[in-house]
This record gives sequence, C-alpha cells and structure tokens, in this order.
Amino acid sequence: MSKCLSQFWRTTQFVKGYYPSFSRLSSNYGENQMLRHSNTIKFVQHQRAWFMKKSEDAMSVPSTPSTPTSPAPEPYEIRAIKETDQEPVISFLRKFFFKDEPLNVAVKLIEFKDSTCVELEEFSIKSIKDGISLMAITNSGNIIGVCLNGKIDQNEPEEEEEECPNPKFSKILKLLAYAGKEGSKIIAEKYPDVEKIMFAKILSVDGAWRGKGIAKELMDRTRHIGREQGYGLMRVDCTSYFSARAIARLGFECVYELKYADYKENGQAVFVPEHPHNALTIYVQRISCTSP
Ligand code: ACO
Repeated sequence: MSKCLSQFWRTTQFVKGYYPSFSRLSSNYGENQMLRHSNTIKFVQHQRAWFMKKSEDAMSVPSTPSTPTSPAPEPYEIRAIKETDQEPVISFLRKFFFKDEPLNVAVKLIEFKDSTCVELEEFSIKSIKDGISLMAITNSGNIIGVCLNGKIDQNEPEEEEEECPNPKFSKILKLLAYAGKEGSKIIAEKYPDVEKIMFAKILSVDGAWRGKGIAKELMDRTRHIGREQGYGLMRVDCTSYFSARAIARLGFECVYELKYADYKENGQAVFVPEHPHNALTIYVQRISCTSP
C-alpha cells in the first residue's frame, strides 16, 4: 500500500507540472479522497506514461512541422464523409495537410498563411466523390482527422495524370506517379488474383491530436469497409515517416521504398523533406479473399 501511495504521489507531482488545472482538482478534493478513485489513478498513470513516451520520442524524432493548435481532446467518432462534408473537409486539409505533409513542406506548396493549392483541392475532392472516405469528428463537430480513399482496378489501365499548371504540385504528382507505377508492378506480380484495391490516398490528423492513434483508427476502419465491400487488397503510399509507422503497426507489408535522396533530376535530389521523412514507402495488406 505504501508503495502504491508513493507511486501515486510521484505521478501526481509529475502531472501537476503539466496540468495546473489538475493541481487545482487535486487540492480541492484532497489527495486521500482521490486515492479511492482507482479510475483517476489509472488516468494519471496513463498521462504520465504518455508524456514519458512523448519525451523519449521527441529526443529521437522531431515533431511534424508546426501546425495550428486546436481545442483540448474530447470524445469523437469515425464516420463516412458525405458529399455535403466536402467544404469542411477541404477547409480542414487547407489548415493541416496542405501545410504540413512532408512533400508539401519540402516544395513550400503553401507560401502564405491564407493561400491554397486549387490543384490539390481538386485532387482531394475527386477522392471524396468515390464515397469511401472517412473522417474523425468530435462531438462538438470539429473534424480532427481524415482518410481520403479511392479505388484501383488492377484489370484497368492506370489513369494518366493531366498536365498540372502548378509547378510545385506538378513535381509531387510526378513523384507519386513514378513511385505509384513501380509499386503497381510489384503488387500485380505479388497479388495477380486481386481485382479491386482500396487505396488510402490522403491521411491527415489535426496537429493537436497527433500521436493518439487517430490515423491508425482511420486506416483500420478503412480496411474494415474495404473488407465489407469485397476489396481484395488495401494499399497506402506513405510520404511521411509517421503514416508509414502507423500502417506498419496495423500489420501491413512494405512492398516498395524510394529514398528521397535517390530520386534525382540532373544529379540533384528533387525533394529534401525534413527529418525523419526520408522515403516514400508503399504498404499493402490482403483484406479479403477475392472471388475467382
Ligand atoms: N512524433 C513522434 N511520433 C509520432 C508523431 C510525432 N510527432 N506523430 C505520430 N507519431 C507516431 C505515433 O506514436 C505512432 O507510432 P507508434 O504506433 O509506434 O506509437 C505513429 O507515429 C502513428 O500514430 P498515430 O497516432 O496513429 O498517427 P497520427 O494520428 O498522429 O497521424 C499522420 C499521423 C496522419 C501522418 C499525421 O502526423 C499528419 O497528419 N501528418 C501531416 C500530414 C501527413 O504527413 N500525412 C501523411 C502523408 S501519406 C498519406 O497521405 C497516405
């Protein structure tokens, strides 16, 4: 019991440093009274473990580029994106993905606070129209994450991208097309029986909600929908170290990797994204048996 008390005291002191409001809560109720609430102890220990892990991660891996902060975490649900959600979803992406996806950052896609990239907006809207995309939304209606999905039919020739007038976004599209084709060849050889592939194209989480498993949950639910709708495979082309880490955690297999340093034009690397984003990787997983 005394071991438990001292552990709780240490944990409480630790959390007080981060949460002044917790401090007030603790003195209002009295620590002895709080001890009787085992859920509160679990909460404190969970927060402590979370902060310890964050500080360890922070030492080895820098956080993603600075993003606007959002209200404190609150309950949320994952649900399908409907066509009527298009405007708020695009506005969410403008605030986060457009500004903080590693390749967008590397080419300085968005130069001014309020500017946008219409070509990337169109690219995103196309996926929403496929009707298999998901978002995480809080009870109060704040979008905190999206996973925009599309479909690939292995028996149909891949769509050729039209010429893009935006030189920065065009560079990104060129890389995605190049790596995408290389990945498709490998996938076709490895999974010749698969027709329909569920393709997670854009994954983005609110800066204030990162590292809490939202991306994993969005991709897990995407996999679930894919399974229900008879897709044979799910595929994710990851331009970020963190999306790759999330999808690897879900047991996906990496079938292709292109180090950014090896993707060159005139002997020069085209993209030099921030550490730890050093490669574009393609992950897949078989999600259901395909019909003969
Ligand atoms: N520092 C250290 N680790 C981190 C960080 C961070 N800043 N962010 C995520 N991680 C780790 C998590 O701990 C977790 O690893 P673990 O399972 O080993 O603990 C893994 O990365 C993913 O964790 P999630 O919490 O599920 O991911 P999150 O909800 O934070 O979202 C995402 C990840 C979507 C990549 C987010 O960082 C983001 O929006 N980044 C900017 C946009 C972007 O790069 N999108 C992906 C491009 S690729 C594509 O769209 C398919």
